[in-house]
Amino acid sequence: MAATGALLFLFVVGHMVGNLQFFLGAEAINRYGHFLQSNVEILWPVRIGLLVTVALHVWSAISLARENKAARPEPYANWQPNSASYASRTMLMSGLIIAAFIVYHLLHYTVMVKEINMSGQDFRPLMDAEGRHDIHRMMILGFSQPLVSAFYIIAVGLLCLHLSHGVGAMFQSLGWKNHVYAPVIDKGSKLAALVLFLGYIAIPVSVLVSKCGGCCK
Ligand code: HEM
Repeated sequence: MAATGALLFLFVVGHMVGNLQFFLGAEAINRYGHFLQSNVEILWPVRIGLLVTVALHVWSAISLARENKAARPEPYANWQPNSASYASRTMLMSGLIIAAFIVYHLLHYTVMVKEINMSGQDFRPLMDAEGRHDIHRMMILGFSQPLVSAFYIIAVGLLCLHLSHGVGAMFQSLGWKNHVYAPVIDKGSKLAALVLFLGYIAIPVSVLVSKCGGCCK
């Protein structure tokens, strides 16, 4: 669980940094997307690696939930959590919702299924002047749909709630969370989750705000 979680965390950080090139303009993000798409010897091993990592992470989560249930088949009559945080108690549920979001996200921006983007436009033929896929325009069209943006913001919020506990739990599983480091690790996980949340929602929020600014003028 910890090893696959660590790999997924690195992906989430890398993907956010890559996405933030949106703010550098169309040239930067389209060049970046073109670089990833045209290097199949990097793209496919990373895709397959990610898929295997997600599958192992979900499998570990389900096995762990089963072990927990088997250890105490009778639920507590009156259970009042006093140390387990909300994030830690909802890890399985937030994880499953994030998995559903990833399926939508892949259909939205990677497979580019027109029927689910709610803009009525096909993202596949969007090209820039250099003949590259126009990811910048695709993101603007995609996030101009308030419902789609709201879904992304909620899903990223859940992902960050999941990480605010998951990062600390990862250090604990690896045996690095002792009483000296525990407060730093717990605060660090929450801070990392907050930075990721702000970094990810920056794009849909800025598209929605500029769209609203445009129509109110
Ligand atoms: C607002 C937030 C996000 C934006 C703007 C965004 C943007 C994108 C874009 C544009 C692509 C397609 C890249 C391309 O085909 O060239 C993509 C692919 C992908 N995204 Fe995101 N993403 C966001 C959040 C997330 C999150 C939270 C996750 C996972 C937890 C995620 C996982 C992925 C994966 C796995 C791919 C597929 C990469 C591939 O083509 O193999 N994304 N994202």
